[in-house]
Amino acid sequence: MPSYLKPPASKTPVTVPRLIEMKASGDKIVVLTCYDASFAAHCEAEGIDVVLVGDSLGNVVQGRDSTLPVTLDDMVYHTAAVKRGLATPLLIADLPFMTYRDIDTALRSSARLVAEGGAAMVKLEGADYVLDAIHALDRRQIPVCAHLGLTPQSVHKFGGYRVQGKTKSAAERLIADAQAVEAAGASLLVLECVPAAVAKSITAQLRIPTIGIGAGIDCDGQVLVLYDMLGITPGKRPKFSRDFLAATGSISEAIAAYAKAVRGGKFPAADHAF
Ligand code: KIV
Repeated sequence: MPSYLKPPASKTPVTVPRLIEMKASGDKIVVLTCYDASFAAHCEAEGIDVVLVGDSLGNVVQGRDSTLPVTLDDMVYHTAAVKRGLATPLLIADLPFMTYRDIDTALRSSARLVAEGGAAMVKLEGADYVLDAIHALDRRQIPVCAHLGLTPQSVHKFGGYRVQGKTKSAAERLIADAQAVEAAGASLLVLECVPAAVAKSITAQLRIPTIGIGAGIDCDGQVLVLYDMLGITPGKRPKFSRDFLAATGSISEAIAAYAKAVRGGKFPAADHAF
């Protein structure tokens, strides 16, 4: 390992029980996506709690127009690279499209992300038939992060990248799905692009922490796509994101400013929410 990637020896690694404690104590959980070892070393140095190797790498690294073409080999490669830059944050890796379509496939795919990539948790999208995979993974001691709301792998069913849970019935369905993923054994829940009031209600009802992106201030933690919050992603920045590099001057200061804003309840602001 190059010396600049070596983490400080003094830090205590973030674990799944620690995330539950953070929810209970009201300490906000700071999450960032990451795709390589050098950015991972910055996340390590600036005290990010959880690093997510998102299949958003299909968009921001590979230049694709959706996450659907991302392969399990892509995810294993990037997860292993990120792992080399980290010691302290909990490392989550996304299960890409169709790699958790049934229990056996979910177990095989997750085993690769954990054993070859070094992930401590896997993330998958949806509820419904996915509940069986969540339960099977949890029974085999692989922690699971569920992901509800705007689940990008469902883009064709949604007809675009749209805020979810806006009507009364859709909000009730979202709340029921959140309860179902917790009951199935999920340890963490990402809520993407849902009304802030719905995310607040889910967060209050669940024992497991919620991590919001476009889901308001009341989630137990926040996640942003690293390339969005550094202003690297071309085109219009999503409404729920902020360019932290523009207001600072270096990558490390931008990541530190994001962590401070989340922990201090200053991000997201009302105009980042739906
Ligand atoms: O793929 C990803 O980066 C994600 C986050 C936006 C939560 O799923």
